Amino acid sequence: MPDLSPVHRDFFAGGAGDERTLRANEAAFDRIRVVPRVLRATGDRDLRITLFGTEVAAPVLVAPTAFHRLAHPDGEVATARGTAAAGSLMVVSMAATAPVEDIAATDCPLWFQLYPQPDAAFTASVVGRAEAAGVRALVVTVDSPVFAHRPRDVRNGFLDLPAGMVCENLRDGTGRVRSIAMDDRLGWDVVDRLRAITGLPIVLKGILHPADAELAVEHGVSGLIVSNHGGRQLDGAIATIDALPAVVKAVGGRLPVLLDGGVRRGVDVLVALALGATAVLVGRPVVWALAAGGAAGVRDALDGLMVGLDAALALAGARTPAELTADLVAAA
Ligand code: FNR
Repeated sequence: MPDLSPVHRDFFAGGAGDERTLRANEAAFDRIRVVPRVLRATGDRDLRITLFGTEVAAPVLVAPTAFHRLAHPDGEVATARGTAAAGSLMVVSMAATAPVEDIAATDCPLWFQLYPQPDAAFTASVVGRAEAAGVRALVVTVDSPVFAHRPRDVRNGFLDLPAGMVCENLRDGTGRVRSIAMDDRLGWDVVDRLRAITGLPIVLKGILHPADAELAVEHGVSGLIVSNHGGRQLDGAIATIDALPAVVKAVGGRLPVLLDGGVRRGVDVLVALALGATAVLVGRPVVWALAAGGAAGVRDALDGLMVGLDAALALAGARTPAELTADLVAAA
């Protein structure tokens, strides 16, 4: 991987604590097998889905990940170009190293990820800026009341971005770049406060417990992402594919439920959809592809997942994501 220093590679690859949840996300997919149907005339397959009015080529989206300029000089702009070329949608991290306006200029459909800041006026200015740039949804990350202990970064002394790189979307009115603050006083009222400052669909990212899924529906959000932050927050948290069925049951079809964490192959996407996800997001695979091949690398990685999903769909006897049902999967 060109120009990816071991310290930055560890930042992207690593997780919290002993990295049990990081490993569990992938291991859990490995404990699930497909029970395919046959002779179902799957010749006219169609992977497209529409989320909040945006059609994507397949239910495989780009998760918000920080600091893309550490992986490639063109950073998030290259990621967005590759994502658009694959017909997908990118969630821009609040910790992006490119301005949201520059990312939006690629014409890639974007959602914007937010860590609500203790300074409500600053939070509103960040949201307003993203909205003005044309993002189509606000993804509010709710699994990070504090910043978790990440041993690899501590060991490597990775604390700050190199000179010349900043979180471009955290400039305040004076042009000063603020640091992201985690806020352990956040409660459900934050959803109502965000609702009051934006008309964008609000998607909560980091739901694992079915009771929280129920509360999210009651608070009028537009969607959920079952996520444990790729094993980077609570080490010991349940693997996302294991958490999905109870969340889907609690939501009962009232909202789209998305999932991220450990999705590495087309058949992983198929399994998540069969268990009730509307779409999945991928984090690290996109970062590695960006580092290895820039925009073309990101396009190829997403295309590879979509081609794999298409083949898995045919082999499991389905034509569309909507045809995937829980009877198609079983424990290994
Ligand atoms: C993340 N993730 C993340 N999530 C978020 O809401 N805001 C952020 O800024 C980041 N930053 C970030 C950086 C890096 C390097 C990684 C690997 C992850 C979490 C991310 O959105 C997603 O939940 C996981 O990456 C999904 O797991 P996989 O696909 O990496 O296994």
